[in-house]
Amino acid sequence: EKRAALSSALLSWYDQFGRDLPWRVRGAHPSPYTVWISEIMLQQTTVKTVIPYFYRFLEKFPDIETLANADIEDVLLMWQGLGYYTRARKLHECAQYLVKNHGGKFPETYSELLKLPGIGPYTAASISSLAFDKREAVVDGNVIRVISRLYGIQESTAISLPDVTKKAQNLMSDTRAADYTSAIMDLGATVCTPKNPVCNSCPFETDCAALSLHLIEEIPKIEKL
Ligand code: ADE
Repeated sequence: EKRAALSSALLSWYDQFGRDLPWRVRGAHPSPYTVWISEIMLQQTTVKTVIPYFYRFLEKFPDIETLANADIEDVLLMWQGLGYYTRARKLHECAQYLVKNHGGKFPETYSELLKLPGIGPYTAASISSLAFDKREAVVDGNVIRVISRLYGIQESTAISLPDVTKKAQNLMSDTRAADYTSAIMDLGATVCTPKNPVCNSCPFETDCAALSLHLIEEIPKIEKL
C-alpha cells in the first residue's frame, strides 16, 4: 500500500537523520508537560532561540504544579526576550486549570486537550501524538509544505487547508505516532525547506508530485493577505 510505504520511508529517514532536540527522548516519550512547554515556545520562535529558554523554564518550573503555584511575574521573567507574552500568561492559566480540574495531569485525548485554555488544534495534536503516541496529525507550516508538495496541491493554502489536513492525517503511520510527528516536522525543517529544498535527500523523492511536475518553487502557494 502506497500510504504505508510512504510513512515507513519517512520513519526510516527519521531514524537516520532526525534531529536530537532537548524536548525529545530517544527510545521513550517525553512528558506531556515537556511537549507542551516546548511547543508553545516554538509557535512563534525558532528552535535555536528556544533551546536555552526551554532548559531554564524547566529548571525553574519542573512540573504542572510548580508552574501553577508560581507567581505570574516569575513566569513572565523566565519568558523575558521570547516575546508574545500572552503565551506565558496562558501557560500559567492552563497549569492552574489542570490542577483545579484534572488532578494536575494532562488528559490524553485530542478532544479533551482541545478544551484546555490556550490549547488549540496544533498543540492538542502535538501533545497527544508526541507524549501519548496517539495517531493525531499535527498541521503547521512545515507539514503544510511537505504535504502540499508531495501531493502537488496547487490551490492557495487558505483554500487547500482542509484537504491538506485530511491528507496529513491519512499519511500518518499506524505505529510510532510520536516518531512520525517528529519526522514530518524535521523533514519540513531540514529537507523540504521553503527555499532550495534538498530533494535528493528526501524519502519522498520518487513520489513527490511537485518535484516531478517541476513545481517545487510554486508549492505551497501561500496566500498573501
Ligand atoms: N517546531 C515546532 N515543534 C517542533 C518540534 N517538536 N521539534 C522541532 N521543531 C519544531
